[in-house]
Amino acid sequence: MGERRHFTEKQIVIASHNPGKVREIRELLAPFGVNVSSAGDMDLPEPEETGETFIDNAIIKASATASVSQLPALADDSGLCVDVLGGAPGIFSARWAGPDKNFGMAMQKIMEATADFETCKAHFVCALCLCWPDGHVENFEGYVHGALSWPPRGDQGFGYDPIFVPDGYDETFAEMDPAQKHAMSHRADAFNQLVAACFQPS
Ligand code: IMP
Repeated sequence: MGERRHFTEKQIVIASHNPGKVREIRELLAPFGVNVSSAGDMDLPEPEETGETFIDNAIIKASATASVSQLPALADDSGLCVDVLGGAPGIFSARWAGPDKNFGMAMQKIMEATADFETCKAHFVCALCLCWPDGHVENFEGYVHGALSWPPRGDQGFGYDPIFVPDGYDETFAEMDPAQKHAMSHRADAFNQLVAACFQPS
């Protein structure tokens, strides 16, 4: 791998319209004293996610936002992969919730599809892409492994958090204190890699 580009700017745009994700990334960026805005706040267009991998989709979102805002942009493409479903919903995690973003329905769909299995291993994936207005990109991928649990429990977090129990814990991500989730999540894993590569002095 070539030399990583360091982030030295004062401002960054989070290439997302998902308030749950924006809140988590904002919290993760808090220690770096960067001025954070989001594509949602700035009313920027949402590109179509036509990629075949989490990284492809993160690049599509970060490049579109960096290009229209002319600011460095950070995109997160993430999702839940269930082993017995061959990795579904995967990159289609948001789309399983339909246009109304109904995650109650998406979780129900997963429950029905896995009804024949007693234990369902699953993992969350988070691809992060940091893209500068000149088109340069840095990509990272993080994971957290665990299992599905029924019925959904907890009201913290977002998306599929109420049915995901990380390995070594009894609580779902939605029952945990957000700080505890941030310490072990797929987003934290990818974020730690990003910080080590781009936010530290060389
Ligand atoms: P994206 O905006 O296309 O990356 O969609 C990601 C989707 O994956 C989200 O809408 C959630 O459904 C799911 N997801 C990603 N990260 C998390 C998480 O930390 N907790 C719960 N669900 C998540």
